[in-house]
Amino acid sequence: MSGHGADYAERLAAERDNFSDQEDVHGDLPPSAHRWAARHMVPKLHELGVESIGSLIVDEIRARAREAAEHGRDAVVLSLGSGNGDQELGWLSALADDGVDNVRVRLLEINHDMQRRAAEAAGRLGFADRVEHLETDFNTWKADTEYDVVVAFQVLHHVLDLEHLYGQVAEGLRSDGVLVVHDMIGRNGHRRWPEALEVIERIWATLPPELRRNSVTGMIDERFDDIDCAVDGFEGIRSQDVLPVLLEYLHPSVFLTFGNVIDPFVDRVYGHNFDMENERHRALIDDIGVLDDSLIDLGVVTPTRLTALFHPRPQPLRAYRDRTPERSVRRTDVVDPAGRVSFHPAASDPHRLVRGSGLAVGRCNGVLHDRWVGRTATIPLRTTAEVDTVELEFWLPEWMPERGTLTVSLDGHQVAAVPVEHGLLHRSVEVALPAHVTAELTLSADWWVNPHAAGLGEDRRTLSYVLNGVTVRKSGT
Ligand SMILES: C[S@@+](CC[C@H](N)C(=O)[O-])C[C@H]1O[C@@H](n2cnc3c(N)ncnc32)[C@H](O)[C@@H]1O
Repeated sequence: MSGHGADYAERLAAERDNFSDQEDVHGDLPPSAHRWAARHMVPKLHELGVESIGSLIVDEIRARAREAAEHGRDAVVLSLGSGNGDQELGWLSALADDGVDNVRVRLLEINHDMQRRAAEAAGRLGFADRVEHLETDFNTWKADTEYDVVVAFQVLHHVLDLEHLYGQVAEGLRSDGVLVVHDMIGRNGHRRWPEALEVIERIWATLPPELRRNSVTGMIDERFDDIDCAVDGFEGIRSQDVLPVLLEYLHPSVFLTFGNVIDPFVDRVYGHNFDMENERHRALIDDIGVLDDSLIDLGVVTPTRLTALFHPRPQPLRAYRDRTPERSVRRTDVVDPAGRVSFHPAASDPHRLVRGSGLAVGRCNGVLHDRWVGRTATIPLRTTAEVDTVELEFWLPEWMPERGTLTVSLDGHQVAAVPVEHGLLHRSVEVALPAHVTAELTLSADWWVNPHAAGLGEDRRTLSYVLNGVTVRKSGT
């Protein structure tokens, strides 16, 4: 046994079976997928200064090949799970057209039939001496040479031992090397997380039967079939870990995440139902694309796709708008006020206001970006252990003409009324909260000032005090 589980050999056999006959891995994508990509993926790449996914890869190889040429060597490219090798041969052709021919590509692919097809195509195109075949398993492969560029194109979601593979890639990359990733990062088995399923089910309920035909079963699905693709083989085996584990090994620069709720409408199961010559079908795909972008940008759902560059050494991050790595990871260890696992604490509480045995698990209303608080602030807290004290630290500058009493409530019940003076203040409030509950902490000030109206400056906001932090804990801990 390999140490990868009792069913590893069985899964590997299923994976080989699945791909052996696939001569066109990316064929049969529905027209809705192409329309959506053109409208919702390509413009985002352009905003990051990237022409296309192909050019992202070729540009990285070209730059390193030119540098390698100065040292009289070839640039070495590794493609993980390279399939039939068609993309890789395309890169070599594009580079040859530019007069760049000091590139060697190593194809790491376990499937013998695919390797054979890749070798035949390389021979036909005159690249046989530029291509090497590593017919091996990326879950156990050891980096045996230095790489300028490693490419993972729709493959990391097939990897079981991500930690092993990322460790080897990090070791094999030259210090100025790069890993190019274009992959799926959604829930394991390409299933929907609950918050996305809820939206899809609502859309589903509005669709006419012809748009709900399942191309696998031929049936009209009354309910969206949220199948688990990882039941056999390795399709989506650890897709939800692809990004967070990668961030532990390498550092991103160009970083784009996208897609989620749109996925079932552009996949091979239902996507072909949408006729892009039909105005209403087109509008529906476009509308779901817009909705999906909004849901991602608002933090309601997290993206299922990643196109990015990663490096052995830290680089300036060039993320698409607010879609940072942190906001793109769907955390599974934090619970939101509705009892669902969905929020990243840093996304809910960017100032890290809540400390100790608790987390902010939703929007902190009333706390402004610079931590000034108006009359009322509400903070949804989730305790991680038993709590009997809430410590508030706040600051009331001397120039504030007003001060007064801060009423502290939990779930609408007053637990304290705290007199507030000028200066930096610490106040402890007794509470009784068991571990693992969610409670809404409300802070209500009975004083406030509009500095502009009071002739104290330009600030026109209603301000009461600056909140430095809320520490929840059990006394003595
Ligand atoms: C979705 S395909 C992508 C192929 C190729 N990168 C492309 O985009 O055309 C995933 C590939 O990973 C390969 N693969 C799956 N498990 C593997 C393993 N354990 N080691 C090496 N390759 C593997 C499959 O055979 C398949 O060719």
